[in-house]
Amino acid sequence: MERVVWDEGRFSVGDAIMDSQHSSIIYMINDLVSATEDSAEQEVRFALSSLNQYAVSHLLTEEELLKDRGYPELESHKVLHREYSEKISQFMSEQIIDKGTVLTFLVNWWSQHILVEDMAYKEFIRNK
Ligand SMILES: [Fe+2]
Ligand SMILES: [Fe+2]
Repeated sequence: MERVVWDEGRFSVGDAIMDSQHSSIIYMINDLVSATEDSAEQEVRFALSSLNQYAVSHLLTEEELLKDRGYPELESHKVLHREYSEKISQFMSEQIIDKGTVLTFLVNWWSQHILVEDMAYKEFIRNK
């Protein structure tokens, strides 16, 4: 499975707290990629729920920040966050978690979200 290599220049959204939370999320996903080759269902479930707890707290912190700065696209951004949480709940509710599918989703969602959707607020918050 492809890993996401954290690169400040490429991933920075112009806010130190957001950057540090994003990099932690990427590291956690990479850990999960290396841990799941032959780990048991329980371990995967535990790692996924720890990642999810951290991720949800990041999404809320980000929404607060964007609200404080008066980001005009906040509502549509929140929809993307909500869709993410729904997808994760759906994965977690499966009897057996399909690790490959979950990891592919996590790697793709987070790289796309940070590089495209979060990146869209960079210029806006920089000028605030
Ligand atoms: Fe976001
Ligand atoms: Fe984010």
